[in-house]
Amino acid sequence: MPKDTPESQSVCNTVTRSAIFIVATLVDGENNADTVRAWCADIAALVRSVGKRVPSGNLSCVCGFGSKAWDTLFGAPRPAGLHPFREVGEGERRAVGTPGDILLHIRADQMDLCFDLATQLVGRLGEAIAVVDEVHGFRYFDMRSMVGFVDGTENPEGREAADFTLIGDEDPEFTGGSYVLVQKYLHDMAGWNALSVETQERIIGRTKLSDIELDEAVKPSSSHSSLTTLVENGEEVKILRDNMPFGRPGMGEFGTYFIGYARSPRPIEQMLENMFVGRPPGNYDRLLDYSRAVTGGLFFLPSATLLEALAERAPQSNAACAGQQPVAPSPAEPRHDGSLNIGSLKGTSQYE
Ligand code: HEM
Repeated sequence: MPKDTPESQSVCNTVTRSAIFIVATLVDGENNADTVRAWCADIAALVRSVGKRVPSGNLSCVCGFGSKAWDTLFGAPRPAGLHPFREVGEGERRAVGTPGDILLHIRADQMDLCFDLATQLVGRLGEAIAVVDEVHGFRYFDMRSMVGFVDGTENPEGREAADFTLIGDEDPEFTGGSYVLVQKYLHDMAGWNALSVETQERIIGRTKLSDIELDEAVKPSSSHSSLTTLVENGEEVKILRDNMPFGRPGMGEFGTYFIGYARSPRPIEQMLENMFVGRPPGNYDRLLDYSRAVTGGLFFLPSATLLEALAERAPQSNAACAGQQPVAPSPAEPRHDGSLNIGSLKGTSQYE
């Protein structure tokens, strides 16, 4: 790797036993923006301090910013694909967007490590932010999701994971960065458990015990695995997921925290559209008859190198900008014609 290639954040880390997901909003005020910017340069040192105490604990932290927060905190230039979360679907089956300016995805093999790092990171931000959602996720038996199926099998690995998640030269100022989409789902476990295992398997598209993909001849086109498989120009386009089950049985809460990383928001958004609206429309994901999305947010993750440098970057003041033209949308903003517009995968075709 060339020496000046930006170091990415820990996007492609191996799966861990525990995770904490924190979504926070910025509290108005220039002092608060200063606090957040200064904090950007402290994150790596805090991860080192907490993580060194248990070297085998695999502690990592990924930090992302929402579209509005990017403008408030850092201004231009802005990542080409960053925009507010786009809601899809309607009625009961809707991917909702909810407030969120900062995302923290903290992972480790022990919850105490995640807990301590979250305490340090949130503590340092103090009143500059308001935490609007915090989920503590755990690894469930053999990598099973809350609905009992193994989750994460078809994730890309190694070099392929980096290729699908890290921005390359399609957006040179943000090389090594990534996009992440999160949604908190709550499940109707009584309804789900009332289904036969065969019905559940047709909904997911894989066998429950052995986690084998159903044969194309029996796998419905509405299965979760079919609707989230994207092909462009004959090539499969993948995202990297690290979903975690969470819940409070005593409160009847059973959930999945979905987190998907990609080098452009477009593939994740296309998967959401396929699941919620259907491919073709109406042929939607039946998992959603038993799962409701209660949050949704899209965030940009700067490379680790840029994250540290952002501490020194404040947007130009309004006075300095007076008389300037509004920033034109970047030509690299993903188009709505179904193409990814991401470097080597760029093409004009629709997903197949
Ligand atoms: C209720 C929340 C969800 C649950 C419980 C869930 C669970 C699962 C399970 C059990 C699998 C099969 C094993 C695997 O390959 O990982 C899977 C696959 C997959 N899911 Fe989800 N998922 C959820 C939401 C989502 C969302 C919102 C997306 C994308 C926006 C997504 C994208 C994918 C992809 C890309 C695959 C791999 C498909 C393949 O290549 O076969 N999932 N999911």
